[in-house]
Amino acid sequence: MIDQGTIQQILDAAEIADVVGDFVTLKRRGTSMIGLCPFHNEKTPSFNVSQAKGIYKCFGCGKGGSSVNFIMEHEHLTYVDALRWLAGKYNIPISEKEENPEDIKERNDRESQLIVSEYAQKFFSDQLWETNSGRLIGLSYLRQRGMRDDIIKKFGIGYCPEGKDTMTVAAIKEGFKMEFLEKTGLTIKREDWIRDRFSGRMMFPIHGISGRVIGFGGRTLSQDKTIAKYLNSPESDIYHKSRVLYGIFQAKRSIIQEDKCYLVEGYTDVTSLHQSGIENVVASSGTSLTIEQIRLIRRFTNNVTIIYDGDQAGIKASMRGIDMVLEEGINVKVLPLPEGEDPDSFSRSMSATQLAEYIRVNETDFIKFKTKLLLSGVENDPISRARLITDIVSSIAVIPAEIVRSEYLKECSRLLDVRESVLYNEIRKLKVKSEDEMIKHRERELIKEANVRLPVSLTPVPEINPCENEERELLKLLLKYGSHRIFEIENTENGEPGYVDVATYILTELEADQMVSVNPIIRTVFEEYNFHLDDENFDAIKHFVNHPDHQVSQFISDILSEKNKLSDFWRKKGSYIEEEHEILPQLVPKVLQECKLRYISFLIGQVEQGIRKASENHDDEAVNDLQKRYQKLKSVERLLCGHLGKRTITS
Ligand code: CTP
Ligand code: MN
Repeated sequence: MIDQGTIQQILDAAEIADVVGDFVTLKRRGTSMIGLCPFHNEKTPSFNVSQAKGIYKCFGCGKGGSSVNFIMEHEHLTYVDALRWLAGKYNIPISEKEENPEDIKERNDRESQLIVSEYAQKFFSDQLWETNSGRLIGLSYLRQRGMRDDIIKKFGIGYCPEGKDTMTVAAIKEGFKMEFLEKTGLTIKREDWIRDRFSGRMMFPIHGISGRVIGFGGRTLSQDKTIAKYLNSPESDIYHKSRVLYGIFQAKRSIIQEDKCYLVEGYTDVTSLHQSGIENVVASSGTSLTIEQIRLIRRFTNNVTIIYDGDQAGIKASMRGIDMVLEEGINVKVLPLPEGEDPDSFSRSMSATQLAEYIRVNETDFIKFKTKLLLSGVENDPISRARLITDIVSSIAVIPAEIVRSEYLKECSRLLDVRESVLYNEIRKLKVKSEDEMIKHRERELIKEANVRLPVSLTPVPEINPCENEERELLKLLLKYGSHRIFEIENTENGEPGYVDVATYILTELEADQMVSVNPIIRTVFEEYNFHLDDENFDAIKHFVNHPDHQVSQFISDILSEKNKLSDFWRKKGSYIEEEHEILPQLVPKVLQECKLRYISFLIGQVEQGIRKASENHDDEAVNDLQKRYQKLKSVERLLCGHLGKRTITS
């Protein structure tokens, strides 16, 4: 497969911010970069990228890892395919044997569907440009519509020939499997016949966010009203229409640059606006706007302008769109078009400069838009007015940000000539407050003393991990400060003073107490670290962040991105702020003992249960045994609590 040297080359090239930056708009914040998480829905950014650590981490959904993990997760690829993907991005050649038909077979379904879609796109495009019928029918249609060649090429628009199964036959001849032609919907197969789904249509390829073809929209050339104007690819493993925005790949750079996205309805609206120089535009083609589509936009900008057709249906769709977009915390504007126009026809009726000017003048915020629309004719009808106010206020109420809401309320008050306090009351009625005021404050005391050993015989491995949090803290210290010296020791062998570093200390302690984590990932990390303990060149963070086991690398990224719970408290207590690494001699033993204490408390609970059960069964011998265990555990607990400055154990 890919040799180790090449893998290293790829890992070195794949700078985390650069890789993530292809998909997420990152802003610098302090030492890290932050953006909206591409893996879950969020309005305020909690997706962090640390260039120093080479990892990403979302504090919202918990996803995290290296550059490779990001591509695996985002593009749904295996580890090896993610490496290939990155190699492609950075032009790193991978020496591999030629792909034979068997290799192709091994690729997963998804990849096969992507490949056959890519093939189909090229085929349709070749038909358009290279064949007589394609040029005569397809190309002349597009040109007649006023579409420039560069736009046709930019969007990869093509033509599916009229024959029953021309495309399918060509694809099969090229070695593509019927299975995937069918799965992508390019071919319709019944028991006794097959045919091209899109025969005789103009083909608009639909690209995923990273530019691969995932589906098609096919426009008929026929004027026949009984024929569907557009046919779209059916839902498949690679095409989910509710999650796709037509044009997002061609638009994303511009959306980021302009910090704004135009939202239109149709394929040709997108292409025509591009032709007029507006590139930050996407369409919710083939479906009415969905939340997923809005969230996709929000990964790139917080500002959306809706341009829908200038008819009743378009206005209605705009209204619906407005509330959905607002609810996702996006600022929304509307560009009304003259009756009977859609962005495509309208933009073609004027020069690019005129269009820009029209937008500048006519773009209105949603309140004005709604007010103007709803107010016409009802100015003096108190009941209609009241309904209008409620309507507009309910739109404002869904806006998540307080400041934005109050700005809109001001404007609404002015436009409708209603006192702001009245509007606030309306909102209060609508809004359900959800305040999360859980502040956890746990006192922890300093300990300097040495350790308390657990009674070896009392350490069975429990099923659930009673000290997960503490083990995580320990791991964090291990990874960050493994080679820091914390204790001086007298080296009796050669009389020279020696030292204990954090890693040696932790690992020795755990071993001495026979504390084995029940979490297999934690266990793996401790074991592997132990293995490398004497290796001076061992870079633990690099090793685990790039661990081939995704679970391990994800876990480590999680841990490294976690806020420091223990040491934060530490800082608050002191009269001056100490750096974490300055308090390691106190911190590390303390965390270790917290971990033991957790463990002991868990065992005590178990034994208590055992005693109860045994006495229910009148098994006196067992009760006796367990009671002895209980006493031992209790004494260890007391000892630990004493060291940790606690009286009783809180959980
Ligand atoms: N649409 C669809 N299926 C249809 C009709 C429309 O999927 N039968 C989608 C297409 O994405 C289309 C969009 O809805 O682009 C808007 O439809 P419409 O306004 O009817 O088409 P236009 O985009 O104006 O297309 P054209 O300019 O080619 O007439
Ligand atoms: Mn149109």
